[in-house]
Amino acid sequence: MLRNLALTLLATINLADFASSAFLGSSFSDSLQDCVSFMHMFDYTFSNSQGGSADRPYGLTSNQDYEMVKCSIPGICPDDISRTTCQWMRILTVVCQAVQTGTGYDIQVLTNSLPNHCYYSQISAPVGSFAKYNTYGIRTHWNLATRSMDKATGLLRNQVFYNTNLATQTDVNNQLCDGKWAKGATLDNNIYYREAMDDGTYNTYANNKWASDWNLNTVTTPLLRMPDSDAIVGIALNGVFIFAGNQENGLDAFFPKNFQHDKQYELNRIDIDLCLGSFHTFSTYRYHMFSPCIYDIKLRDQVGLCRRNDTCDQNLTQYAVDMVPSVMKTQAPIGIAKDGRVIYGPYKITGELWQPCEVDICNGVNFGSFYGYVATVFHPYVVGCWGPGNKPSYHAQCSSNPRLCSNANYLSSMFTVIGGAIMFFLYAIIL
Ligand SMILES: *[C@@H]1O[C@H](CO)[C@@H](O)[C@H](O)[C@H]1NC(C)=O
Ligand SMILES: *[C@@H]1O[C@H](CO)[C@@H](O)[C@H](O)[C@H]1NC(C)=O
Repeated sequence: MLRNLALTLLATINLADFASSAFLGSSFSDSLQDCVSFMHMFDYTFSNSQGGSADRPYGLTSNQDYEMVKCSIPGICPDDISRTTCQWMRILTVVCQAVQTGTGYDIQVLTNSLPNHCYYSQISAPVGSFAKYNTYGIRTHWNLATRSMDKATGLLRNQVFYNTNLATQTDVNNQLCDGKWAKGATLDNNIYYREAMDDGTYNTYANNKWASDWNLNTVTTPLLRMPDSDAIVGIALNGVFIFAGNQENGLDAFFPKNFQHDKQYELNRIDIDLCLGSFHTFSTYRYHMFSPCIYDIKLRDQVGLCRRNDTCDQNLTQYAVDMVPSVMKTQAPIGIAKDGRVIYGPYKITGELWQPCEVDICNGVNFGSFYGYVATVFHPYVVGCWGPGNKPSYHAQCSSNPRLCSNANYLSSMFTVIGGAIMFFLYAIIL
């Protein structure tokens, strides 16, 4: 019966054309095999997992580790010169390997965060070049099981475990109204999170170069501008950094709201292009919420600002989720969080969007013994803290589009979820 259901689902969704279709609609374990399957979902430019043979999908020469991306952009190119067509070297390497100490696997990602699609801005450009590249490196434990976290040590199986437990309104605001909360040092010890920076020669990637923080050196890495990774919560499948859903002043990046009497900010949305990316600080291209351009869609070639496009300007979250190709409107990965957990897109396996009471305060969900984050149409949009988190009824007061889940909402959402599951089940049987 279950097998039939699974087969029916696969047939219904018809994902045969997608290389890693096995992981659309399902979640990941901490195995090497799952790490490698996940790795193949990235639009990487170089990989050689477990010391296997080198894979350079964009390599025109035997040692070309990068992709040369071209776009007709009326404006400034990444090398700071105005041309009619820009090109830049995009570098994204993803590797799964056995951990140095202990058991399990590491996933190592090196990126320069330059997009595999067009960007737009009138006044500046993300820094980059078509002649050389530098990379930011992140190494983290692959999908550590929740109960294997250091913080869960000694807990009984039936004891609830929250890595982040925000008990008061102040706790919620302090965590979710801070754009620089995602410090590597706040990650669980058993994740062994490490960072490095490189000038493109990989000479600095020896094990002893990895540290708890990367060390910006504008002489050796002139094409990198981020002094630390505190604003970065994860990396999208196309190598672009995913930032917290906040602006520098801590307010929601898109739907800001003042909440401290002594600090009154101008309530402006950050300026984003049609892929919902921006680079208003650190000359670094990034997303502050889910970007549909993570998928290979025509929007990647569009050049413009969100606020000049009526559909994007009027309801940008609606715009973001409407742009998702229909075959991907299911549970599908969009990137990796700094804690090594998978970040999934805004759609559930039922084809509906994730609702406020279905995610915890970190925007995450338990998948059996494992944990992952999901993209939402409400703040914090992607990752709000390192999960698993509790589900307080307080919401972040720096957002006019917060996760709202009162106890009443929670009950009604349970009914919707149960009702939806039954409908879905019946649907599968009928087919
Ligand atoms: C907004 O952008 C989308 C995606 O590029 C496009 O399909 C649509 O026509 C644009 N709408 C307007 C009013 O420019
Ligand atoms: C915008 O779209 C979201 C869904 O993405 C919806 O929940 C919300 O009500 C819409 N907002 C407005 C102002 O129409």
